[in-house]
Amino acid sequence: MRARRSRSAAGWVLMTTLALVLTGCAIGGDDGTIPQNALNPAGPVARSQDALWDRVFPIAITVFVLVQGLIIYAVIRFRSKGGDEDLPKQVAGNTRLEIGWTIVPALILAGIAIPTVSTIFSLATVGEDPINVRVVGKQYWWEFEYEDPQYEGVVTATQLVIPEGREIQLDMQSVSAQQPYDPAAVPEGTVNPSGSVALGVIHSFWVPQLAGKMDVVPGHTREMKIEADEPGLYLGQCAEFCGLSHPNMRFSVLATTAEEFDEWIAAQAEPAEVVEEGLAAQGQELFLERQCLTCHTVDGHPDNLDLRIGPDLTHWNSREEFAGGILDVQSDDDITAWLRDPQAEKPGTQMTNLNLSDADIEALVAYLRTLD
Ligand code: CUA
Repeated sequence: MRARRSRSAAGWVLMTTLALVLTGCAIGGDDGTIPQNALNPAGPVARSQDALWDRVFPIAITVFVLVQGLIIYAVIRFRSKGGDEDLPKQVAGNTRLEIGWTIVPALILAGIAIPTVSTIFSLATVGEDPINVRVVGKQYWWEFEYEDPQYEGVVTATQLVIPEGREIQLDMQSVSAQQPYDPAAVPEGTVNPSGSVALGVIHSFWVPQLAGKMDVVPGHTREMKIEADEPGLYLGQCAEFCGLSHPNMRFSVLATTAEEFDEWIAAQAEPAEVVEEGLAAQGQELFLERQCLTCHTVDGHPDNLDLRIGPDLTHWNSREEFAGGILDVQSDDDITAWLRDPQAEKPGTQMTNLNLSDADIEALVAYLRTLD
């Protein structure tokens, strides 16, 4: 009986250790780096958080090992041995010890609190000239709207493009993609300028190499800043369970040079061109007929309603990924599968199955390909 119990205990320890090791693993990229490694910061925000971790973690480990070690030592050294029935010597009160174990932890806590509080304050401070981006968590994708007057009208989804070495101030909100804008029907303060109503669910914005997690809560605007040292692609994902496709709510931050960013933003600010003929023109027509425009904006489409319930598609073809970062924009197979049955690709998505014919899908894809 005892042997079986200790064997199952050993099995439990083994399984737990394995689970911990596996959850700590990530698959390295071609160059051997781990794309979402919070311990490999790529910007000042993540670096200051990492530095704080480097400072606090050894202290925590030392305290843990010391306390656990003393407990184990005491349990073994002073355990009841066969035959001795007397209580051990009972001791009460020792002023010197008590002062000692009050002062030492207070000093340790102060040693942790000072760098922690100063890091919190420095993370809350934004410099002179940040780029302001409104981040909206929807089910299940992220919308990015450039708020500064010089970038007006630039809205994208799933990939946030930023210039290197520049502070980006994120104003983060969560809305449900479902409700259309109706100011009369909603409580004050919950209307989101993006045209939806702030009755979403909690998401969490997390790009491990650029900053720690920040929960995005309906009805509030949370602020955080990020910055990337160098051009590169930094992967992120929603880190708070938000529904069926929470694991499909991925995104990325693409850091570019300042010049590349200016070019990108100038191109994004342009409306889409009106297509005059061919299959793409049929697709453009279907965008109205099949009511794509009642959720999606295509700035430049002759019948654009400027609604932002689904992603703004004005420059869809210039992006790398869509559907929350799980499908490839450049793959005709991916976009065809998505239009045929969105739920099959991304369970719980608010994208409707329009029961499109193959010919409709072909025309819509042709139109989407013009949206550079
Ligand atoms: Cu959004 Cu999980």
